[in-house]
Amino acid sequence: MARVRKAVFPVAGLGTRMLPATKVMPKELLPVVDRPVIQYALEEARASGIEEFIFVTAGGKTLIEDHFDRAEQLFASLLSKGKTEAVAELEAALPRAGQVVYTRQQQPLGLGHAVWCARHIVGDEPFAVGLVDDLILGGEPCFGELIAAHERTGGNVVATMEVPYAHTKRYGILDAGDVDGRLVAAKAMVEKPDPEWAPSRYAVIGRYVLLPEIFEHLDRQDPGAGGEIQLTDAMAKMLGDKPFHGYLFSGQRHDCGDKLGYLEAIVAAALRRPDLKDEFATLLERYR
Ligand code: G1P
Repeated sequence: MARVRKAVFPVAGLGTRMLPATKVMPKELLPVVDRPVIQYALEEARASGIEEFIFVTAGGKTLIEDHFDRAEQLFASLLSKGKTEAVAELEAALPRAGQVVYTRQQQPLGLGHAVWCARHIVGDEPFAVGLVDDLILGGEPCFGELIAAHERTGGNVVATMEVPYAHTKRYGILDAGDVDGRLVAAKAMVEKPDPEWAPSRYAVIGRYVLLPEIFEHLDRQDPGAGGEIQLTDAMAKMLGDKPFHGYLFSGQRHDCGDKLGYLEAIVAAALRRPDLKDEFATLLERYR
């Protein structure tokens, strides 16, 4: 079985829910404590054995490329002040030369379309997809959990968690078959159903391991929910042909594309940081 080596990160979205912060700055660079949201996703992918990072960008997103590059002037200035440890940390966080690829989604035609834009870079092998807004803290690296599940089942695997019925309209939802530990067999999936039509409470969270056959379905460019080319629809077309599972990942997910979710991500991340947690917890007490 081919190893999962590549991850596609669709980062072309406008981030309108976070305006005006995202008027000029890509939403993926919003900081959670002292690291941009996108860096958490890259670190998770790297900790999961991913070696190639494919970003599907759009106009106004070039700062993302700068973020994942060396910053010679800054490094030189820090070194001249003896801050060798800071430079070493910045360097360690960088992908190695040649590990990052950028391509553009020229029109905002949906998540499925964004992934399809990376088809030639991915080629004919299973690959991961990560939605950067979904920040996952704690537990095992989520991509790694999905890759291990993919190696066991041989098919598509998506991260899943149970959400209240009132929230099904925000997510792709699985029609669940057998549940075996953390593995949830998927019989069908539907994008953003109203609660009364939702087949279960198993929501798809933004981590996927997909077989390359997905591109054959995305090639057809059929619009789905909201008139967009949906990844969920293309995945649904593979049901029956290939094994398809949700995986109840072990970490905690925060939606950084949403104001409250973003605020919670910052609190949760800060409370996990040994250098900050005690003082930050004391500080939070003051706002109760
Ligand atoms: C996307 C997917 C949806 C998934 C969600 C997870 O929706 O289309 O299936 O449940 O991410 O965050 P979006 O949040 O981009 O509207």
